[in-house]
Amino acid sequence: MQKSIILFTFFISAICCNISSFAQGGMWLPSELDKNQKDMRTKGMRISTKEIYDEQNASIKDAVVLFGRGCTGEFVSEKGLLFTNHHCGYGEIVKHSTVEHDYLTNGFAAKTLEEELPCPGLTVTLLQYMKDVTDEVLKGVTSSITEKERKSKINENIKNIVDNATKGTNLSGYVKALYYGNQYMLYVNKIYKDVRLVAAPPSNIGKFGGDTDNWMWPRHTGDFSVFRVYVDENNEPAEYNKNNKPYKPKKYLKISLKDKQEGDFTFVMGYPGTTQQFLTSYAVEDIQNLEDPARIKLRTERLNVYKDAQEESAAKRLRYASEVASIANGWKKWQGEVKGLKFLNAIQKKQQQEVNNPLMPQFKRLYDENRKYKMEQLYIGEAVLSSDFMLHTRRLLSLIDLSWNEATTDETLQIEIDKLYNYLSAYYDNDFSSHRKVDSMIFVRTMTIFYNDFAKDNYTFLRTKIKQTSVEDYFANIYQSSILNNPNKIKKLLKDYKRTNYKKLFKDSAIELLSPILGQYINSTQEQLAQNNSKLDSLYRINTKNYLDDYNRNKQSQDVSMNNGIFPDANLTLRVTYGNIAPFKPRNGVTYRHYTTIAGIMEKEDPNIYDYVVEKKLKDIYYNNDMAPYGDRVAFIATNHTTGGNSGSPVMDADGNLIGLNFDRNWEGTMSDILYDKDLCRNITLDVRYCLLIIDKYLEANNLIEELELVK
Ligand code: ARG
Ligand code: GLU
Repeated sequence: MQKSIILFTFFISAICCNISSFAQGGMWLPSELDKNQKDMRTKGMRISTKEIYDEQNASIKDAVVLFGRGCTGEFVSEKGLLFTNHHCGYGEIVKHSTVEHDYLTNGFAAKTLEEELPCPGLTVTLLQYMKDVTDEVLKGVTSSITEKERKSKINENIKNIVDNATKGTNLSGYVKALYYGNQYMLYVNKIYKDVRLVAAPPSNIGKFGGDTDNWMWPRHTGDFSVFRVYVDENNEPAEYNKNNKPYKPKKYLKISLKDKQEGDFTFVMGYPGTTQQFLTSYAVEDIQNLEDPARIKLRTERLNVYKDAQEESAAKRLRYASEVASIANGWKKWQGEVKGLKFLNAIQKKQQQEVNNPLMPQFKRLYDENRKYKMEQLYIGEAVLSSDFMLHTRRLLSLIDLSWNEATTDETLQIEIDKLYNYLSAYYDNDFSSHRKVDSMIFVRTMTIFYNDFAKDNYTFLRTKIKQTSVEDYFANIYQSSILNNPNKIKKLLKDYKRTNYKKLFKDSAIELLSPILGQYINSTQEQLAQNNSKLDSLYRINTKNYLDDYNRNKQSQDVSMNNGIFPDANLTLRVTYGNIAPFKPRNGVTYRHYTTIAGIMEKEDPNIYDYVVEKKLKDIYYNNDMAPYGDRVAFIATNHTTGGNSGSPVMDADGNLIGLNFDRNWEGTMSDILYDKDLCRNITLDVRYCLLIIDKYLEANNLIEELELVK
């Protein structure tokens, strides 16, 4: 009796309420934003959604770009001036930094256009329009064809659609699947290739708090950098040319200097990378209990090795800074994600929605079957290929392959040998004698975890070999005896390399280890993964369609205008998210205020800890109260649903004016990629006034302030 009541409740919730758990947060398609208009107005927006996305007239979408390959930026002047995050421009700032001009440490600001620094390879992508092409993509796709035929038909249709939209123009395009292939969108872009670095704060402002503060609130990081887009005389994209002119955007954002209060409406337009809100409980269980923990464990090992090395000297701290930053970013996010999923009881919530779903046994079977392959893939990336030693071994393996293959011409082979020789010579001549210890430890420690946690049960050849010695000694020996541990020998071998040398290489200890591991992975696991993932994808397509149908059926009985509905997962295409400035309670008894000020920078100051050094110049600005008209705010939080890729996104107010640059999320809310919670999830925004304060008073680049349009 008890049981049937519980089941009955589940049943009801599965039918009518499973949608509502997705309906919090939201990354909306700009072209379909009309359906959110009423909700946005209710939350405080004063402009219309047409001012955000319009194909005929200039709208905010003309001011928002994909910066590089994974960040967002926005135009802020009629001369193509672009704001993004410091961590998004980091690579370019580093490339332009030398001992004499250390822009990374000291900051940089061009006082004239001539002083702006070209960034070859950096692109800025500006959406021209997007269009629902579902019917065209699915033309000829019937229920009687196989999944394979379906895929090839869809690919063929997509190719035609993109060709039609871009042929004979300077536009480029792609089609992306939404809802696992229940909807398709065409995106047509212009790609700008002459982008120049204009300004950057010193690292102890742009990266203040470093990895310690990363993913955390309260935050005091001045995470911004400034670029400019250049074009030909027709205002069109062009390769770098010193005679190119600043781009005149159709629309640029005005900047608001007004005070912001708790509850104020904000919205964000940008390029969120990936969310996975439709995952089943099986997938969430794997992430929470297997994948994230394995990743965290492996990265903890690597970070410990780097940290010990960094403590040896300032030079070493710098040497490993960027590796540590990128390893620590995911490492910390996953820890927050696991905590958040557990806190929200995400697995149980999903299970409740899944009661009576007839597809669940199929999902379960596929996840059970796929688990081993997924973990193998994870270990290959996070352990096996995490040391330089194994990455170099993989390059040697390709060389062996080429040498052995009769179809490889001598010329092709020589080109590859030269490349590898130059690359490895530079590597060994750099700092191998001191780096060797770090790299060998990373290799031994990650391989030991790989062996104990996975390989022991899945690679018989390794188990047979590791019998006499300890696991660590086994791997340490491989490192010791490999030719890659002997710079002179490997350089000489490559210098005088003959095709038949591959036989000698083949007997190397590193090759003997990696070859069978990668062999199994490439020849069998990858194929299994591809097959299973394709089956899962089809299943998710059907499952998501059921959700969508369910939602539409129930829509009539709900006040749709107040329910902003369902949104497709983020896929690195332009989206709009909106919410309000709001504090949050990270745990019982604690409330975090919604903004920070420069006083917090002074509180965190510690001249002995690199990440918390504060320059005298900033202290002077603060203590002399030289902050007008910008004030002392540094950052604020709001309920906007964002993810990786949203870095640098404009955060705007109810009138569509720029009030900040999105740069992070709170640690307690990083599970929002899987399950958003309006009480716990916050996006972290750099207050644009702090950015202007630094440009004006610290970098003294009045020339840039004059270009901006400030709203008081
Ligand atoms: N957590 C932010 C993001 O996901 C910022 C990362 C860069 N900053 C750092 N200290 N590693 O990209
Ligand atoms: N820092 C992230 C980025 O580079 C944004 C933070 C997030 O994941 O929300 O895109």
